[in-house]
Amino acid sequence: MKIESLLIHGGIDGDEKTGAVNIPIYQTSTYKQPEFGVNKGYEYSRTKNLTREALEKLVSELEEGYAGFAFASGMAATTAVLSLFKSGDTIVISDNLYGGTFRVLDKVFNHFEIKYKIVNTSNLDEVKKSINKDVKAIFIETPTNPLMDITDIEGISTIAKERNIYTIVDNTFMTPYLQKPINLGADIVVHSATKYIGGHSDTVSGLVVVNNEDLAKRLHFIQNSTGGVLSPFDSFMLIKGLKTLAVRMDRHIENTKKVAEFLRNREEVEKVYYPGFKDSLGYEIQKRQANGYGGMISFIIKEGYDYKKFFNRLQIITFGESLGGVESLACHPASMTHASIPYEIREKVGIVDNLIRLSIGIENVEDLIKDIENALKESKING
Ligand SMILES: Cc1ncc(COP(=O)(O)O)c(C=O)c1O
Repeated sequence: MKIESLLIHGGIDGDEKTGAVNIPIYQTSTYKQPEFGVNKGYEYSRTKNLTREALEKLVSELEEGYAGFAFASGMAATTAVLSLFKSGDTIVISDNLYGGTFRVLDKVFNHFEIKYKIVNTSNLDEVKKSINKDVKAIFIETPTNPLMDITDIEGISTIAKERNIYTIVDNTFMTPYLQKPINLGADIVVHSATKYIGGHSDTVSGLVVVNNEDLAKRLHFIQNSTGGVLSPFDSFMLIKGLKTLAVRMDRHIENTKKVAEFLRNREEVEKVYYPGFKDSLGYEIQKRQANGYGGMISFIIKEGYDYKKFFNRLQIITFGESLGGVESLACHPASMTHASIPYEIREKVGIVDNLIRLSIGIENVEDLIKDIENALKESKING
């Protein structure tokens, strides 16, 4: 099956007992055991729940991995993955990845002496140089949040395999519809399913897919032991969201390309970060490893314009955290999604105060462009 069909029929396709075309929401914590020592494969919903299982199977098929796991948030998913490591281990991370991933390493896993090293993972030589005997994994986002830097997944996986360490890819921005890291050599894929996978800004959720049985056993043990599982209802919501992923992503991509071109030609805009520009740094790699350029754009508004006014003047585009929903969202990375990254690191990598991030939704693109144009015009200081 091609991915557009798999999104609709993959995993567990409907309900075997009644023929219902949708998997039921098995809203139960426990299961009746017919006699001592006998169960029907289900004992307790933290360990296994059929609605969650349907989602986990589906995402594993979509990412072409060995097994999938659903969590109560993207951060719960990342936390479960980081729980594979032990004190003394170091993880190499991309230099402008999601602020929460940095924060959990910097402020939580540091208690367990799991360390991190920030590296520009777009530069494979820098990655090679950064690896010593303590490095046990390379954790990348590509494109990065919020600067859209592209990392060569195959290149990273090759380096990691030579040193017998893991490649972990946060695939939130691309989704398996556009990019399949496991086919490019990655061992573990993480998603904030809150974003494109759910697609409607109505659940907070996370997913992990691993590429082998050993990792699957360890991840299941961590999932069951630490307990941050996704509820049956939210699992159902993600299955529902996934059915329309292909059509949503196609529209996100189409709209985003037009908005990026528009922004690039505006006098109020200093720089646009969009991996679909032919002259952008990672363009050739992105073209090779993904089937599209996604729905995200960041841009720097010029001096003489007030980014706060820009956000305040938007009428259709919602000013708020998050991304990947059907509605367009605008966010200020420096004070919102990336506020937990210390100022010096943020400035150094380019997450400056006048950086604006847009998640382009699936509304009419002319409406979106008009909204941005008005907000830009009205953002002039003393204007
Ligand atoms: C790329 C990326 N990864 C992970 C996360 C964390 O996901 P969640 O908010 O679902 O915990 C986010 C959230 O914004 C994200 O953008």
